[in-house]
Amino acid sequence: MAYPKSILALFLLFHLVSCSNSRPAGKGIKRRIEPCKRMVFYFHDIIYNGKNAKNATSSIVGAPAWGNRTILAGQSHFGDVVVFDDPITLDNNLHSTPVGRAQGFYIYDKKDIFTAWLGFSFVFNSTEHNGSINFVGADPLMNKTRDISVIGGTGDFFMARGIATLMTDAFEGEVYFRLRVDIKLYECW
Ligand SMILES: *[C@@H]1O[C@H](CO)[C@@H](O)[C@H](O)[C@H]1NC(C)=O
Ligand SMILES: *[C@@H]1O[C@H](CO)[C@@H](O)[C@H](O)[C@H]1NC(C)=O
Ligand SMILES: *[C@@H]1O[C@H](CO)[C@@H](O)[C@H](O)[C@H]1NC(C)=O
Ligand SMILES: *[C@@H]1O[C@H](CO)[C@@H](O)[C@H](O)[C@H]1NC(C)=O
Ligand SMILES: *[C@@H]1O[C@H](CO)[C@@H](O)[C@H](O)[C@H]1NC(C)=O
Repeated sequence: MAYPKSILALFLLFHLVSCSNSRPAGKGIKRRIEPCKRMVFYFHDIIYNGKNAKNATSSIVGAPAWGNRTILAGQSHFGDVVVFDDPITLDNNLHSTPVGRAQGFYIYDKKDIFTAWLGFSFVFNSTEHNGSINFVGADPLMNKTRDISVIGGTGDFFMARGIATLMTDAFEGEVYFRLRVDIKLYECW
């Protein structure tokens, strides 16, 4: 009878050890807080306003019943959906040579304050950067800086994950705005 008992004790011991090892990661776990890659870009959004068809890089494609697709709607633009294909530059000059395109959409999603939801990609096709970085997140655009998620990437940015800090660098009326994007990747391959 002694033999099975010791096996039982051994089993119990293993069980205890494996339980203590598989405790969910909590506050005690040291996390990596330094980004493995950091990049700063600017992108330039020129919204179609009925007169700038040649120059515009974005367009209202959906508007609430009280608005139209030429002018951003009242009530903090709530309900407007805008699709964009914006040039990305390395500095804050609209006329600098673009290094890629920011492509996607934003949705104004709150009636009492300007705030949007962003889903877009940075698409690069040059020897410097080749691939894409994918972003999503809430953009409370009245805040000086806003963090959105970098949820993935392809090519040079294979499996990228991190945070992008957005800052409105300039705006002209409701036609042009420029965003500074500070990308911090915490997973790099
Ligand atoms: C769109 O709405 C704006 C503001 O309400 C108005 O001034 C403009 O005439 C409208 N445009 C069209 C094409 O309906
Ligand atoms: C990327 O650049 C290459 C070389 O300049 C070109 O052949 C290719 O068509 C481009 N691809 C896209 C998706 O623009
Ligand atoms: C970017 O990568 C793609 C596929 O990996 C390749 O076909 C293309 O030629 C590359 N473009 C440049 C400009 O290097
Ligand atoms: C944005 O700013 C407001 C007011 O300053 C603050 O209460 C809110 O937490 C900020 N939101 C984010 C996401 O930083
Ligand atoms: C295009 O739009 C931007 C932003 O409104 C403006 O600064 C620029 O002068 C325009 N370019 C042309 C050629 O109209």
